[in-house]
Amino acid sequence: MYNKIPLLVCAILVGCFSSLLRASEFNQVQISTSTPVKAPVMIQGPMPIEAEYFASLLTDVRTEKAGNVTFYIGKLDGFPVVVAQTGKGLENTAAATAVGIERYRPQAIINQGTSGGHDPALQVGDIVLGKRAVNASNFKTPFRKSGAGSAPLEWLPMDLLASEGSAGEGDSAKDAERIRYYIGNETLLHAAHTVKNRYTRGKVVEGTIASGNFWNNELDRIAWLHKQFGTSTEEMETAAAAQIAHSYSVPFLGIRVLSNNLTNGGHYDPSTAEDCQQFVRLVIEQYIDTLSTNSKKQK
Ligand code: 5AD
Repeated sequence: MYNKIPLLVCAILVGCFSSLLRASEFNQVQISTSTPVKAPVMIQGPMPIEAEYFASLLTDVRTEKAGNVTFYIGKLDGFPVVVAQTGKGLENTAAATAVGIERYRPQAIINQGTSGGHDPALQVGDIVLGKRAVNASNFKTPFRKSGAGSAPLEWLPMDLLASEGSAGEGDSAKDAERIRYYIGNETLLHAAHTVKNRYTRGKVVEGTIASGNFWNNELDRIAWLHKQFGTSTEEMETAAAAQIAHSYSVPFLGIRVLSNNLTNGGHYDPSTAEDCQQFVRLVIEQYIDTLSTNSKKQK
């Protein structure tokens, strides 16, 4: 009688296993729905020297193209990052920003690269954190009669987002005669300030980044922009990216190194492009750190 009990247990176990085996005849994959997909941070740089170093820091990289922009989609320290080599100028940058936001839904965007100083107190190698960005090529010229020449230092600022009416003539035209500044995101600025002492090539200051499809070499014009618009440095992209990022409510910051400064004889040095990317890496790592500290606090 007692000898039959182990036999009975064995029979029951074999029965159970065989029904389990029957249930798992098909391959299975089990995915938890509780793991949220993290939105990436997007780093923009116009030229290869302003994007390729950062792209080389990423792991698990794949590339995608759209028009003139190349996106490097990968990870930095395990965190999703998209590097966008946008191409130069306002149009390329605006297009790259809109396509980048629509495709990858970044949680924050940093536009970074080289620039030319407007402030004689800034040296080649110094970095400007874009507390403000401004399009320094949006102007309305006051009327001058034929033969009276052109007077660029009398031009008026023009805000193309002031209204849906004409910026040049009509009821809304006067409202458009103002400077529009795009304000840098506080959290990104804070991350940049936290790591600024680790940048050794020069100093890191807050300032106003001026953008336009212009390379200004007239010292009087540079001085006029510095005085009237409060510009610290000029380049060709940040304000375009800021305008589009703000229109999608994506947190944005411009970070620009001075690669040249005509106002104090600072000669063009392209090696500053990599220094800037090294600094932006510190900023991103700090930003990611703050995100994970905040999410731990919330738990
Ligand atoms: N003026 C305008 N753009 C500059 N750049 C660097 N220095 C200057 C400057 N002084 C950057 C622009 C553009 C490329 C020509 O170099 O942002 O991408």
